[in-house]
Amino acid sequence: MRIATSLACLTMALALPARAAGLPPDAAVNPAAPNKTLEPNVVANSGRLEWVPFKRDLTDWPTLSHEDKRSTAKPRKVKLSQPLNGDPARGREIAQRSDKGYCIVCHQMPGEDWPGTVGLNLSNFKQRKYADEAVFQLLFDARVINAQTVMPPYGTNNILTEQEIRDLVAYLQSIE
Ligand code: HEC
Repeated sequence: MRIATSLACLTMALALPARAAGLPPDAAVNPAAPNKTLEPNVVANSGRLEWVPFKRDLTDWPTLSHEDKRSTAKPRKVKLSQPLNGDPARGREIAQRSDKGYCIVCHQMPGEDWPGTVGLNLSNFKQRKYADEAVFQLLFDARVINAQTVMPPYGTNNILTEQEIRDLVAYLQSIE
């Protein structure tokens, strides 16, 4: 068993291109198309994954992959000009949509039965009485407040527009 494992490792090591040395052979890196991720497809009962090329070009989306050498935008401090002019209903939609904020993937919020638990429960956010300015900065770029934050810098990385972040602030401040 151990010999078979060593042989398999050796075969993998020889088959890998030099730049990918140290990565598992099925790592999500495609040297021919570095800006396209690969989608894993489980091959039933084989213990193997097949990597299917994604159609999306992720050039504008820096990742945490060691293969991604693009620089990351610096944390950006912003000032919220009042009035807030946010639409809570629109904010709620942005929080739930996977192509927008997708906040529910980490936070518990009203209307989502299967939230993620990485972030805090936000289902009575209004009671915390945070200032709009602070929440706006947190969503625009939380790294300004906490360098080790898990939250994506929605504003700095142009994931959401300033108006969408205003809608989210209005929504959060309305959750009782
Ligand atoms: C990848 C997980 C993740 C995503 C996605 C995420 N958050 Fe967070 N959020 C966290 C974590 C973890 C914290 C706690 C501190 C930190 O890491 O910054 C946090 C903190 C917060 C806080 C501060 C709460 C408090 O009482 O201090 C707010 C408000 C918040 N998030 C709102 C949002 C909103 C709105 C979205 C969507 C636009 C969102 N988050 C998306 C993980 C996430």
